[in-house]
Amino acid sequence: MNSSISQVVPLELAEHSYDISVGYGLRDNLADILAPWNQGQQWVVLTQQAIFELYEPVILQLKQAGYNIGTIIVPADESAKNIRHAEEVWTKMVEMGCDRSSILLALGGGVVGDLGGFVAATYMRGIPFIQLPTTLLAMIDSAIGGKTAVNLAAGKNLVGAIYQPKAVLIDPGFLQTLPRRNVISSLAEAIKYGFIRDQTIFDTMEARYDDLVSLNDEALLSDIIAKSCHIKAQIVSNDQFENGERRLLNYGHTIGHAFETIQAYGGLYHGEAVLYGMKCANFISHKKGLITLAQFERAQNLLHRFDLPELGPVPAEKVLEVVAHDKKNINGTLNFILIDDIGNGIVSTDVTADDIVDSLQVVS
Ligand SMILES: NC(=O)c1ccc[n+]([C@@H]2O[C@H](COP(=O)([O-])OP(=O)(O)OC[C@H]3O[C@@H](n4cnc5c(N)ncnc54)[C@H](O)[C@@H]3O)[C@@H](O)[C@H]2O)c1
Ligand SMILES: [Zn+2]
Repeated sequence: MNSSISQVVPLELAEHSYDISVGYGLRDNLADILAPWNQGQQWVVLTQQAIFELYEPVILQLKQAGYNIGTIIVPADESAKNIRHAEEVWTKMVEMGCDRSSILLALGGGVVGDLGGFVAATYMRGIPFIQLPTTLLAMIDSAIGGKTAVNLAAGKNLVGAIYQPKAVLIDPGFLQTLPRRNVISSLAEAIKYGFIRDQTIFDTMEARYDDLVSLNDEALLSDIIAKSCHIKAQIVSNDQFENGERRLLNYGHTIGHAFETIQAYGGLYHGEAVLYGMKCANFISHKKGLITLAQFERAQNLLHRFDLPELGPVPAEKVLEVVAHDKKNINGTLNFILIDDIGNGIVSTDVTADDIVDSLQVVS
C-alpha cells in the first residue's frame, strides 16, 4: 500500500469488487498508485476547467512518469451531464486513439464522475474507469456504488448504467479549494449515514461540527470520509441494484427531492434540500412513535446548526405531486425511509400524504 494512503475500504461485489482508498497527499503519488493498471495504453482524464487549473500538476506528474495521457474538459456545471457532451467525449476519445484497453480517470465532483462513468460504461461497450473525487459529495457518496448517468430535459439521471469503477482514490486535500457552501451541503450525506446506520457519525458531527466544517483536522475528516465510504460500500455490496437495503440511502431524499424540484434545480444544493428533507423525515419518525421526543429534538438540533439558504415557499400540493410522481416510478408503493433510532433507518410503506403535509411545519 502506498504510504500516502491511510485507510482502505473494500467494496465487495464478486468480480466487480474494488478498493476505496483515502489519504491526504494521495494525489501526489498517483503515478505509483496507478502503476498496476498502466500497460502503456492511452489514458484519459475527464475534468472541468477550474479543476484542471488548480490541479494540473496531478496530470503532469503522470505524463512525466511516462503515462500516455490526454485531458478532456467538460462544462463546469450540471449541463455537462448531457448526451451531447457524452458524444463529444466519445468522439475525442476516438481521436486520441482510445481503444478497449484505455482507462478513464474522472477527476472532479459528482458531475464529472457521473458523466465519466457513463462514458466509460458505453465507450466500446465498456472500458475501465477510476474515480478521483474532488468534492465532499463525490468522496462520500457519488463516486461509490457505480451509479452513472446523464440527464434528459424530462428529468435528472434518466439515462445511465450501473457500472463500477476499478478504484476510488480519495484525497481529502482537494477539499481545501472547494467553496464552503459545497462542503457544508455535502455533509448532509454524512449525517444521513449517521441517521440510517452509524450513530458514531452522528455523535462526531454533533461534537465536532465546527472542526469538520473548517476542514482543519485532517484525521477527523479522513475518518468521517472513510466511515461514510464504509457504510455506502456495505450497502451497495448487499444491494447493488436498489431492491432493498440501498433504499435506505434515500433518507431525507423523498421530500428533499420535492423541494429540489419545486426550486427547479438551482436554488438549493442537493445536500441542502436533503437536510430539509431529513428534518421532515425525523418529524414523521417521531409522529409515528418510532423515536422519542428527546431523540427527535437531538436530531433536529444538529440539523439546525447547518447554515442553510431559505427554503422558500413549498406548497403542500406541489410537494405531494412530486412525491406521487416518484411513487409511480416504483409500482405505486411509496417506500419512505424513517428512523427508529439515531443510527437505524427502516423502510416504511405506511407514510401517508397527511404525514408528509404535516411534516412541512418543521421547514416553514
Ligand atoms: N452517482 C451517484 O450515486 C450520485 C449520488 C449523488 C449525487 N450525484 C450527482 O452528483 C452531482 C453533484 O455533484 P457535486 O456536488 O460533487 O457537484 P459538482 O460536480 O457539480 O461540483 C461542483 C463545482 O465545484 C467545482 N469543483 C469540484 N471540485 C473542486 C475543488 N476541489 N475545488 C474547487 N472547485 C471544485 C466543479 O468544477 C463544479 O463547478 C449531481 O449531478 C448529482 O446528480 C450522483
Ligand atoms: Zn443525495
